[in-house]
Amino acid sequence: MKLFLDSAHVSEVREAWSWGIIDGVTTNPSHVSKTGRKALDVYAEILDIVDGPVSLETIALTAPEIIDEGRALAKLHKNVVVKVPLLKEGLKAVKVLSAEGIKTNVTVTFSPLQALLAAKCGATYISPFVGRLDAVGHTGMDLVEQIRAIYDNYGFQTEIIAAALRHPTHVLDCALAGADISTMAFDILDQLYNHPLTDIVLNQFLTDWAKVPK
Ligand code: E4P
Repeated sequence: MKLFLDSAHVSEVREAWSWGIIDGVTTNPSHVSKTGRKALDVYAEILDIVDGPVSLETIALTAPEIIDEGRALAKLHKNVVVKVPLLKEGLKAVKVLSAEGIKTNVTVTFSPLQALLAAKCGATYISPFVGRLDAVGHTGMDLVEQIRAIYDNYGFQTEIIAAALRHPTHVLDCALAGADISTMAFDILDQLYNHPLTDIVLNQFLTDWAKVPK
């Protein structure tokens, strides 16, 4: 499973990229807003750091405008993936952008049938929002499993980016469910390294090593 960082903070992107475990980055309007910076400045720096897919989200709500915005974003760099909301107009735009060879990530996805429609329009990626479903009393991981089954049934090539993940167990469940990618915040990515027994056993080894005659 590929791992993406879900952030627009350049310092987080630089640090996570240096670890050698991330394959790409996803951003969204809220992430960009939190930086307090101009979107294009942020995008340029992220694209300079990351040698992999970087999702940049469109803001328009009509197909012609989303297409224009998507074409402009795609011109920024070969690694740009145009992130488009799962609206009827959005999927019309995805169909056009895909036909032009522009990669797309269909976002704010909450049902398997929405994901089916996105795949039919040629979406490169689909982003089901797992944690947001959990937050309203559903089991978000069911959505990842259902999309996996539908895409496998019909051989769709659209890759599943499990998104809105809230903790490492979500990442584990995504890997078991066959998500192609998990995208997550910096702190969750960092937590993937940790296990208390690693610290305890390593400490024991180092303590014992100190007793070895030098
Ligand atoms: C994914 O691409 C989104 O940017 C992200 O996961 C949204 O999740 P959240 O706003 O619920 O954290």
